[in-house]
Amino acid sequence: MSFRYQQLAGELQQQIEQGQYACGERLPGVRELAKRRALSVSTVVASYRLLEADGYLQANNRSGYVVTARHQPPPLSGAPLQHSVLPSSVSSQQMALTLSKAAADPAYMRLGAAVPAPLYLPQHALQKALQQVIKAAPARLMCYEASRGAPELRREIARRMALQGAVVAPQDVIITNGCQEALMLSLKAVTQPGDIVVIEAPAFYGLLQALEAAGLKALALPADPQTGLAADALQQALAQWPVKACVLIANYSNPLGSLMPDADKKRIAQLLAERGIPLIEDDTYGDLGFAGPRPASCFALAPQADIFYCSTFSKTLSPDLRLGWVIAPKHTAKLEYLKFISNISSAALPQLAVARLLQSGRYERHLREVRPLYQAALQRISSSIGRLFPAGTRVSQPQGGFVLWVELPQGVDGYLLAQQALGENISIAPGAIFSPTPAGSASVFGNFIRLNGAVEQDARLERALQTLAQLCQRQLEAAKPA
Ligand SMILES: Cc1ncc(COP(=O)(O)O)c(C=O)c1O
Repeated sequence: MSFRYQQLAGELQQQIEQGQYACGERLPGVRELAKRRALSVSTVVASYRLLEADGYLQANNRSGYVVTARHQPPPLSGAPLQHSVLPSSVSSQQMALTLSKAAADPAYMRLGAAVPAPLYLPQHALQKALQQVIKAAPARLMCYEASRGAPELRREIARRMALQGAVVAPQDVIITNGCQEALMLSLKAVTQPGDIVVIEAPAFYGLLQALEAAGLKALALPADPQTGLAADALQQALAQWPVKACVLIANYSNPLGSLMPDADKKRIAQLLAERGIPLIEDDTYGDLGFAGPRPASCFALAPQADIFYCSTFSKTLSPDLRLGWVIAPKHTAKLEYLKFISNISSAALPQLAVARLLQSGRYERHLREVRPLYQAALQRISSSIGRLFPAGTRVSQPQGGFVLWVELPQGVDGYLLAQQALGENISIAPGAIFSPTPAGSASVFGNFIRLNGAVEQDARLERALQTLAQLCQRQLEAAKPA
């Protein structure tokens, strides 16, 4: 027989283990829970103390009882994965296309593509802004928008850039069809087919697609899971190879979630500037940090350097807007021309609607609301992985964004896992596609996967994680000598 406080502690323990309360999250207040469960305050206090003694909770003067990190899986090791670094052509991004199809199909548990579920997006505000634009400016929607983009949006973007310390003239902002086009135009502006471009390893696979499309060679330098590309590694590579451009994500990289210290951002910008090599900076996740002020970009920290700043509203408002931008004051005329000959201009309707959202302050409010949701979602998924996945699994500790980079024990093939998971209606991104030459388990990231955390935190997610864990276990058992 157990006492009521023990029963309550048992229930709460189960909820924590099932991930209903993530690490760092506060449990209901003592009085609130006592009222809800028709128990005495002393019973609730006794059960919280029991969980505290078992290491599940920590009493915090200001926040009450908070879930501890007891169930977090080990982090990725600090050092970047070492592998021989040679320029290589980029190929075989077919799996990325499969993921992109699954991302649009509700039949799948969409842990593959880095696409936020609608609950993380300001749907109503966006709908309202779109309707307002249709009503207020119908004539504007009946002709081509300027190739550089709508002046209203370019002005708002220039204002937002000032918040991170970058002084930008609105006429230097070029609106693109998402960050993907911003990256493509930037690469086109400074490279020729066959040129060598430095990228990070692991690299966002959309960048690899852009390199493949442009016929460029990738020199993939191993990045640190916490701090990203190391300036020393870059310096060595620049001494060895005729590099024509460098592309990096300094703020909350995809897939690592790493955040480069400002000193490294400045040093990297300087190293490149000294050699006349342009830096293409992808700041897609810069607005989605979990703590502290918004990090500055290399672009803001090194105003004299030759930097293409690329970003997007895909992760904060909606990927379907297809709205991004690129700013490179030394190359504005060329970028405008490249945009024009690629697809004339981006549609006016989403541009004018987003300009309204930015003007109204609604965008900033949305960011404040969504950042803690992403942090809690990633902690919850990490803790489920720690509980369910085979021993030896390691998980990144992103400081922003909404993806997790998971290292599976040796013997698990991430590519095979992704294919098996598709058979269970779950999409995940195999680590191999984050490398320029994905070759299944033979790839440097063969035993890695990336998970999209911006999904509903419900029982379906828990079941999907259980299925993935079982598939990993089965692969390990199959690999054991008979
Ligand atoms: C780092 C990074 N850059 C660029 C993109 C492409 O974004 P967009 O939808 O704006 O083209 C993505 C989307 O996943 C991304 O994660």
